[in-house]
Amino acid sequence: MAQKKLSGEVFLPSKAVVEKANVKDWDEMSKRAQEDYEGFWAAEAEKLHWFKKWDKVLDESNKPFYKWFTGATTNISYNCLDVHLSTWRRNKLALFWEGENGDFQSYSYYLLHKQVCKFANILKSMGVVKGDRVTIYMGRVPELVFAMLACARLGAIHSVVFGGFSVEALHERLEDSKSKVLIVSDGSYVRGKIVNLKKIADEALMRAATVEHVVVVRRTGHEINMEAGRDYWYHELSSLPMGNQGCEAEVLDAETPLFLLYTSGTTGKPKAILHTHGGYMVGTYTSLKYVFDIHEEDRFWCAADPGWITGHSYIVYGPLLTGVTSFMYEGAPTHPYPNRWWQLIEKYGINILYTAPTAIRGLMKYGDAWPQRHDLSSLRLLGTVGEPINPEAWKWYHRVIGRGECPIMDTWWQTETGMFMITPMPCVPLKPGSGTRPFPGLIMDIVNEDGESVKPNEEGFLIIKRPWPSMMRTIYNDPDRYVNQYWSRYPGYYLTGDSARRDEDGYYWIIGRVDDVIKVSGYRLGTAEIESALVSHTSVAEAAAIGLPHDVKGNAIHCFVILKEGVEGTAQLAEELRQHVGHEVGPIARPEQIEFVSSLPKTRSGKIMRRVLKAKALGIDPGNLSTLEE
Ligand code: WTA
Repeated sequence: MAQKKLSGEVFLPSKAVVEKANVKDWDEMSKRAQEDYEGFWAAEAEKLHWFKKWDKVLDESNKPFYKWFTGATTNISYNCLDVHLSTWRRNKLALFWEGENGDFQSYSYYLLHKQVCKFANILKSMGVVKGDRVTIYMGRVPELVFAMLACARLGAIHSVVFGGFSVEALHERLEDSKSKVLIVSDGSYVRGKIVNLKKIADEALMRAATVEHVVVVRRTGHEINMEAGRDYWYHELSSLPMGNQGCEAEVLDAETPLFLLYTSGTTGKPKAILHTHGGYMVGTYTSLKYVFDIHEEDRFWCAADPGWITGHSYIVYGPLLTGVTSFMYEGAPTHPYPNRWWQLIEKYGINILYTAPTAIRGLMKYGDAWPQRHDLSSLRLLGTVGEPINPEAWKWYHRVIGRGECPIMDTWWQTETGMFMITPMPCVPLKPGSGTRPFPGLIMDIVNEDGESVKPNEEGFLIIKRPWPSMMRTIYNDPDRYVNQYWSRYPGYYLTGDSARRDEDGYYWIIGRVDDVIKVSGYRLGTAEIESALVSHTSVAEAAAIGLPHDVKGNAIHCFVILKEGVEGTAQLAEELRQHVGHEVGPIARPEQIEFVSSLPKTRSGKIMRRVLKAKALGIDPGNLSTLEE
């Protein structure tokens, strides 16, 4: 690529990387995508399987409810599995897995297809049909992948709830989605301990009226409660003859809902982001192939959790669509020792590792000796996602894990976007901490309050000015919120909720959320979820949650609590409240610190001014206080 001199610290790709890369010239690709945007996406879509081709690539007749590939029929599960069966990939490793306790499973495309058909037949026998919602609540195990693809096969809508969430979070999601079936594992291994997922599910199910059947996957084998007539063991059902018949993938309209994924938003309860078969398929396939430069022989490891969008798009759908080998690991990076990941990379010859800044910082803490004991020479590319990566962690990752040779793909995207949006490709010069530029064809901008583009290096709101195939289609059950939250602030443009700046070279630098979302260890949590868990405790009158900078987690949750009349704010109560939030929402939401206060800063309309709390906690100027009531 023709290069002008870039400002700041720049890492150029090696000749070897560029020579191997699928995309050697970013500028040419960008230009092509700009000039014929629909043509660009249609050409990518052509590489996938459609039962019937589209009449229209992008349908803008009902903005902002955009549609892609209208008139076409397809099925993402068919594209992940069946299409490979008539090629040599039939016997290629599709998915392999290691458990925290050293268990191992592997599935060729042939075998994965079988497992998925079996699971689909089980769901069918429970009456699951196209459009039904199925909630999946498990640790990181292969059955989770079977379950997702089985739903997709039938045209049912999966809603995966992260295995680190707890009773209230699961209950809320079951209720909102009105799920007919819940798929759960008995438990999961986390740092050598068993998390009793079935017990949490039992508690949530007491209040969830719509669930008719529960499929229980045995993972830990500990004693659990099985309710007769409701709960069925997966291994028993799958050994029945009906499980073993094939299961044709449903022929679905491209816009058929594929999944719901609940995520925290600006206010109130988590919202269900809806993605569809056709556009999501094209977006994840294309972005993975080019950004992580997928080659047939690669072993790709996305170390995220399948319970979040990163796992959906880049453990399951993207890799299987590209026909690559995807690796999944059950446990924590540092269990039993901080070399667990490096050991896995060496053992399995992983070529591409995609993880989050929080994991990198957490591993960096243990020093260079742990990774240096392992042969990491199989690695060709690295990736990061979830929050801004500090240059120090970037450089450690690059030097110690990537031998100073592996480019780092710092990918900015969201549950809502489905795919990478601001991202380098291997041929692009990198600056530590910047995701470089928008993916070819996308038009993004950084604007001020009035919607005007800000000058280089000025901070502003990050927006997206053009629809893209894997964009969310709506918020399930709440289309008004979809319009109001994303498309109303700057009419016609998508509001990301992030602030950013663009440097003199056009490189984007993400600063962080501008709404009430807190990113803790890369996980997305809403202040509202934490606050409502706190006020559900008998001692609490009011609560406010904010995120404060944390060395490893990026942000840690700090809460301010007003107690009810007569209740004393002891250290013991603070601890009890922390545990309470952990029980209601999940361990990741457990506050770092609880501070008892007698009042909270509010606007005249009664909204808590979290920015004032944050400024006070950090000892900085709170800025404009004209709307503050007291
Ligand atoms: C943040 C995760 C900086 C951002 C895929 C975004 C990032 C939110 C990056 C979405 C990155 C994600 N650099 N910040 N590379 N990637 N974010 O929905 O604030 O869990 O809006 O999707 O994560 O979080 P979500």
